[in-house]
Amino acid sequence: MKTFLSGLLALGGVAALVMVLIPPKSDAPLRLVSSTQCFACHADVAAEWQESHHQFAFENPEVRRLSNNFANQECLACHAPRPVLSFKPGERVLARQSERGLGVDCLSCHSHPEGGVGTKNPNAKSDAPCQPRYVERMESVDHCAACHNQHKTVEQWRAAPPELKGTGCIDCHMPEEFRAGGRRGRNHAFKASHDLAALQSAVEMKVGKDGNGAFVTLENVGAGHNFPTDERSRAADLQVRWQHADGSWGSWVQIHRFRDPYRDETDLTNTQLPSGATERYALPPDGVTQSGSAEVRLLYRTNPFMPDGEAKELYRLSLEV
Ligand code: HEC
Ligand code: HEC
Ligand code: HEC
Ligand code: HEC
Ligand code: HEC
Repeated sequence: MKTFLSGLLALGGVAALVMVLIPPKSDAPLRLVSSTQCFACHADVAAEWQESHHQFAFENPEVRRLSNNFANQECLACHAPRPVLSFKPGERVLARQSERGLGVDCLSCHSHPEGGVGTKNPNAKSDAPCQPRYVERMESVDHCAACHNQHKTVEQWRAAPPELKGTGCIDCHMPEEFRAGGRRGRNHAFKASHDLAALQSAVEMKVGKDGNGAFVTLENVGAGHNFPTDERSRAADLQVRWQHADGSWGSWVQIHRFRDPYRDETDLTNTQLPSGATERYALPPDGVTQSGSAEVRLLYRTNPFMPDGEAKELYRLSLEV
């Protein structure tokens, strides 16, 4: 019995030695030519990305309308880009020729010029079929800046207070997710201006009364850049209305618009709300004489000419003016 056991142990020892000498067989490295290859192995990431505006960047009807169906080829550069890691930080990205329908796809952000995929994880399994390699730029703002600084979002982030600035864009735009096997991952849905909860997390609205009268304040408590940011077409409007004696409501009166105007709107200035900043407005606003029960609301429009009924209502509060 004793010899049988020690024989088994010895056999085990030989097996362990063989395993050290011959590393566990890994899948053969893949030549990565299409983002559709990633979908099967990274199904959870792919499902999040499918919901994102990165996936939508080439098909987006708004983009097609404004680019005249991409007759304006300049618009392809960031909406169907070549892999950004093939360009130096700060260099202008260029359009790709194939699979433009996938928009800003997996290869756009991950494909490494020397083969494999970029990751910020220094301990990634380099023998995985997609050959992950450590790239410092992956988690830095420089990665996003390749496409996101034409309207100075990155400059605004640099000027943000430390508690909102954090370590970069992915702190807020890629919240942590756990992947199969317990590996830490990052959400790829990039929720922002098309998501009510993300929009509401950007600002806090308050109404009140003090020695100077009734007021509404808006504070940028959750965006690491101006509110709204990036696209000049975004607009956020503060509005107020009063209740009549018969209980019906008057029409909405504009208090303030937060927006970075188009270049040809030379009569307008930039009125975005910087990261961490608070603005206060008197009620009733200048030029209006009204008192009684009032409601104040904040509307968000992805397009400055969008009618009120299509805008997203972020907040509505009541007060006596
Ligand atoms: C045949 C399956 C397969 C394909 C195809 C594949 N991967 Fe992977 N990938 C893996 C495996 C396995 C790992 C290691 C996972 C782990 O550590 O748990 C990995 C790891 C990664 C990592 C590193 C994750 C980390 O934090 O450690 C990234 C980034 C990545 N893949 C991106 C991609 C992209 C982008 C594509 C498509 C261009 C792709 N992969 C295609 C199987 C695949
Ligand atoms: C330097 C990179 C870059 C180029 C070039 C570019 N875009 Fe964009 N575009 C972006 C980024 C980044 C966003 C996302 C910003 C945001 O959502 O505010 C965007 C968003 C948009 C949107 C908003 C989409 C939506 O549904 O909200 C439209 C419309 C648009 N672009 C049209 C164009 C047109 C038209 C051109 C060519 C004249 C163009 N873009 C060229 C980077 C670029
Ligand atoms: C290769 C260019 C490119 C890179 C790199 C890139 N983006 Fe984008 N991003 C775009 C384009 C183009 C859009 C707009 C697509 C559309 O709406 O048509 C966009 C849209 C967005 C949006 C808005 C989503 C919405 O619902 O409106 C967010 C947020 C965003 N990107 C964050 C990031 C972050 C964070 C990074 C860095 C990790 C990053 N992006 C890297 C091109 C890029
Ligand atoms: C503290 C959290 C936070 C950080 C950090 C942050 N953002 Fe945002 N971002 C938000 C919130 C909240 C919104 C939605 C409100 C808005 O549009 O300003 C947003 C919106 C956006 C949009 C959508 C704009 C549009 O018009 O559709 C883009 C693009 C974007 N962020 C890019 C970036 C980039 C690039 C960085 C890094 C330089 C960054 N963000 C850093 C919270 C953050
Ligand atoms: C806009 C750029 C962008 C796009 C598009 C993108 N990624 Fe990522 N990805 C990142 C960033 C930034 C990280 C976080 C840093 C890191 O882990 O390297 C990341 C992390 C990952 C990781 C490791 C963390 C995790 O969540 O598991 C995998 C795997 C991955 N991406 C796969 C993909 C696949 C597959 C696609 C296409 C379906 C894709 N990515 C599209 C930028 C992008």
